Amino acid sequence: MRLRTPVLATVAALLVTSVAALGLTISYDAACPTTAPSAATASTIKAYRYSCYGSPTVLQMRDVGRPTPADSEVLVKIHAVSINPLDWHYMRGKPYLMRISSGIGAPTNHKIGSDFAGTIEAVGAAVTRFKIGDRVFGSGDGTFAEFSTMNEGDAIAMMPDSATFEQAAAVGIAAVTALQAVRDKGKVKAGQRVLINGASGGVGSFAVQIAKSYGAHVTGVASGRNIALVKSFGADSVIDYTKDDFTKGTQRYDVIIDLVSNHSVRAVAGVMPPSGICVIVGGTNDNRWIGPGIQSLEAMIVAPFVTPTFVSMLASTNQQELEVLRDLMQAGKVTSAIDRRYPMAELPAAVEYLEKGRARGKVIVNVVPSQ
Ligand SMILES: NC(=O)c1ccc[n+]([C@@H]2O[C@H](COP(=O)([O-])OP(=O)(O)OC[C@H]3O[C@@H](n4cnc5c(N)ncnc54)[C@H](OP(=O)(O)O)[C@@H]3O)[C@@H](O)[C@H]2O)c1
Repeated sequence: MRLRTPVLATVAALLVTSVAALGLTISYDAACPTTAPSAATASTIKAYRYSCYGSPTVLQMRDVGRPTPADSEVLVKIHAVSINPLDWHYMRGKPYLMRISSGIGAPTNHKIGSDFAGTIEAVGAAVTRFKIGDRVFGSGDGTFAEFSTMNEGDAIAMMPDSATFEQAAAVGIAAVTALQAVRDKGKVKAGQRVLINGASGGVGSFAVQIAKSYGAHVTGVASGRNIALVKSFGADSVIDYTKDDFTKGTQRYDVIIDLVSNHSVRAVAGVMPPSGICVIVGGTNDNRWIGPGIQSLEAMIVAPFVTPTFVSMLASTNQQELEVLRDLMQAGKVTSAIDRRYPMAELPAAVEYLEKGRARGKVIVNVVPSQ
């Protein structure tokens, strides 16, 4: 017994020291290296790169080698891109947990940017789905650039015929997330009452329209300044969160798509029938270790004790979903709501704006001026 106490104390001390060391390592920000500007030549393109985590100033427009498509790849000339919270999460390396894959101390992948719209500039020898000149949109890797390569089977599809490059660039992550939340996780059916918490942002603007296209009665939650905007997406009613708390009302919702996660699981469960489904998509919690994931953690712990189903989701962009969204856009059921437009040289300002969390719809950067 006398032996056990010092052994336990040693194990506990070792555990605390290891956790502290892991914490210090994972939250460490390496200094930004100074990169000498390389000269622009016929074989270089402009592209954003970042070599350290931090504010939007870490995003540097550089002259880099023009990419060449491999056999199964296409080379896309990027016309417009849109900004997502994912971009500033990568830029900041926060929540820290993501650094396990994005790089400890500094990013391992110096490219940045996902959503794009553009034209096929070149195709690899084995490409069958696309040809030079096709207007395409989707989500890639390192699209904050004049050109980007991607596999023809990746998240890239033909643009809706009547869409502009700006409208198509807005779709990517936000609309695919909205589609998977409403259709797959929320299993929304005609006639159901659906509430979208955070209806005025990028994902919310698409989620309202997609839920309406499934025949649901949609309530959006937004601030007073965005009520008219959310109604313009097709919402049947809008709750001004600065005046009313939807978890304190008498209305019940079959499905809640939660993009803000600013209420407890118990409070949300209180406005849902036992058969209800709450889809936790994102949140405003800026916990630096796990960020909005803290709400998913709460749901995991509390969910077994409440009757509605709580599910967390991580969207996965792919060609099939882009084609569904293209069809919805061509049928006039979904359109992109564009808040602000920036030129390529001001991309860091666009990221800075989105990071404030006040965007109304999507934020676009035009890589090719005047679309
Ligand atoms: N799980 C996934 O796979 C996945 C995929 C994409 C996005 N996400 C996450 O989903 C969330 C939404 O993404 P997003 O692209 O739509 O972000 P966003 O465009 O930056 O959202 C901004 C909008 O949120 C609204 N908002 C802020 N606080 C609110 C509140 N308390 N109640 C209601 N609305 C509020 C803002 O309106 P006001 O200015 O009026 O407050 C603004 O219009 C983010 O947390 C993002 O990281 C998750």
